[in-house]
Formats: sequence, C-alpha cells, structure tokens
Amino acid sequence: MYCCAAIGNDIYWVGVNDRKTERFENYLPLPSGVAYNSYLINDEKVCLIDTVEVRQSGTFLNKITAIIGDKNIDYLVVNHMEPDHSGSMDEILRAYPEITIIGNAKTLQMIKAFYPSFPEASFKAIKEGDILDLGTHKLTFAMVPMVHWPESMVTYDITEKVLFSNDAFGSFGTLDGGMWDDEVNFDFYKGEMRRYYANIVGKYGPQVTNAIKKLGGLEIKYICPSHGILWRKDINRVIKYYADWAQFIPEKKGVVVMYASMYGNTEIMANMIARELSQQGLKEIKVYDVSKTDSSFIMSDIWKYKGLIIGSCAHNNALYPKMQPILEKLQNYGLKNRYVGIFGNMMWSGGGVRGIQHFTDSLSGLEVIGKPIEAKGAPTHEIKEELRALAREMAKKILEEI
Ligand code: FEO
Repeated sequence: MYCCAAIGNDIYWVGVNDRKTERFENYLPLPSGVAYNSYLINDEKVCLIDTVEVRQSGTFLNKITAIIGDKNIDYLVVNHMEPDHSGSMDEILRAYPEITIIGNAKTLQMIKAFYPSFPEASFKAIKEGDILDLGTHKLTFAMVPMVHWPESMVTYDITEKVLFSNDAFGSFGTLDGGMWDDEVNFDFYKGEMRRYYANIVGKYGPQVTNAIKKLGGLEIKYICPSHGILWRKDINRVIKYYADWAQFIPEKKGVVVMYASMYGNTEIMANMIARELSQQGLKEIKVYDVSKTDSSFIMSDIWKYKGLIIGSCAHNNALYPKMQPILEKLQNYGLKNRYVGIFGNMMWSGGGVRGIQHFTDSLSGLEVIGKPIEAKGAPTHEIKEELRALAREMAKKILEEI
C-alpha cells in the first residue's frame, strides 16, 4: 500500500508526493508537483532523517510503521527547519515521545520559534564532525549554512556512503514511479532541478561553492536530497551542475528574450530580435512574455543561457509592473556573468528602458551589449535596424565564446 523504497542496507525512502499544492513557498508554481523526501534507517537504533510537510503526516507515519512496526524511533535528524521538512515533527513527537531530536544550535532556535511548545529536553545538539552511532550505520554531520537557511546541514552515512544532502541537489516534480536519476526522464528533472536552484538557492552561490569544497573529500555512493529524484548513476555530474550554477556558468550558448508589452509593439521588437538571433545561427532562443510565463521558469532559463535581452514598455513613468518583480529578484540574487541587451517602448516620458538600465547599473557582473533601444509606439525603420544590430552583436559574443 505504501511505497517505501529501499536505498541501501536498512535505509528507506519514506517521503511523500504532493500533487495538490499549487505553489511551493506559496509563490512558485508546481505543475508537476513536488516530493518531500524523508529517510528512515532501521538499524539497532532507528533514525529518521527529516520529516515531511504537515498535511501528509498521516501518510508519512503509516509509511514508517509499515517498516518498523511497533519499534520506536530513537532519533530524528533535522537537517533543515523549513516547514516543508520539519512540518511533521510535532506528529512524530506525539507518536514517539521518547525520540531524540538531533540538530545544531541554530536548529534549536528555529524549532522554538516555529513550535513554541517543543520539549527542549528532547533536543540534542551536534557539531560538525560528531558521530551518531546507530549500530551498523554511523552518521556524521556537516554544516552548510545558507544552503539554503542559516541552520542547514547535511548528514553523511559513513557506512553506506550516503549523503543526505538537504535542499542541495533537490528538484521540483513528484516521484512518479522512478526514484533514481537512471530511472527517469532525466531532462525533465534536470530542468526542474535548475528551476529549484535558480529560485530557491540561487542567491547563495558562494555558500554553495563552500559547501561543495567542504564535502569534496567524501566518497559518495548515493545523494539523497530532500526533494525530487535521488542520485546514484553519476554523482560527479550532479555536483558539477551545482558548482556551475553557483558561479553563474551557463550551460548552453543561447539567449533569453523577456519582454513586457501592453499593446504589442514591444512584443514586435522582441520577435524581431529573436528572428535575427536565429538568422545569426543561434539555436537556443527563448522568448518570454513576463505577463504570461511565471518568472520561476524564466529564472531557470536565465541560469541556463549566457545571453539575456530585456524589453519593457513604460508604465506610469516606470517599468511595466510585471517586469519589475523578476528584475528585483535577479538583482537580489546578484545575477552576473551574463551579456545583457536592453530595449523598450515609450509614449511620453518613458520609464521602461530607464528601469532596465537601473537594473543593469546595479549589478557589476553584467556586460551590457550595445546601447539601449527605445521605440515610441510602432518600431520605425531605424529602430528595426538597431534591434537587428543588437541581436547580431549578442549572437557574435555568444557564438565566439569557447
Ligand atoms: Fe525544501 Fe529550504 O526547504
């Protein structure tokens, strides 16, 4: 009845699939759902690694008892306090009142903040490198602050060489039968992993780089993240994705053209740019209307490609309202290592192009290609030539890169 897939000796996935929630963190769309992964080690001492989101705590408890029967759970390791993972902690405490909750000093502060009635005597603080002996399995811990909260840590099973990596290497998308990277449509999960990275972890590139360095000496047979598929086929490949994303290293030669258009003229400009990019030989071109496509998908492609061309009409002397949030998010995340082109439209005093320029001026790691192009209504012959020239220059820069 309950799928509790085995990972190594005595290690089980007891996570849950969520196909009901519309938006992750209440703002990121989940068209393919999300999995909250939790792991159970059924050794002499029984240990749970993280829990699941609260609404599925009943299913979660049933999965656990299907494996351990009426045995107790001795430990719950809390790698991360965000409620998509800690949400069922109260239920676990009620079902297993003798359990010891394992975390670090910052974890405890957050537990008390989220769950004021938490019995503090149930908590045991560990430090980096401490060993938790379960019998056959020995667990150790490493702190990975800001990947993606301050208290975040990972747990490593020394015996089975499993890294319980917390949010790192996680992806959106439920586990629809396949659980491992070699059992699924890999491209789909890779895309959803990048979308997860770009929107959830993307601000913390330096911390991700530090975490990868810290974990570099470990022999890892399995990576078990707290969302999405598990990794066993090519561990180095998934680590390389993260290392590159953390440094804004693009995956492919390509361009995102994102635009905001009320009456179609800025859209015409975007389409002209895209056509010229194609004429120049670029095969990976993504054109997005920011009023239609959720910004989380656009963010993912911005992480994927080296080129970004941004166009906005003006709205009340400022950026178009649907363009503003994605630029603010990119600014907050410190976008860098990208070529950027700017275009837009005005009718009286502008504001769209000016707003994009404020964005590019605020980030030192961007290289602006050409001059901003601003049409007044329908693009004139001269404006069309400028748009083509911008596309040619962008394509040249990208295609000439090694
Ligand atoms: Fe999946 Fe940062 O929680």
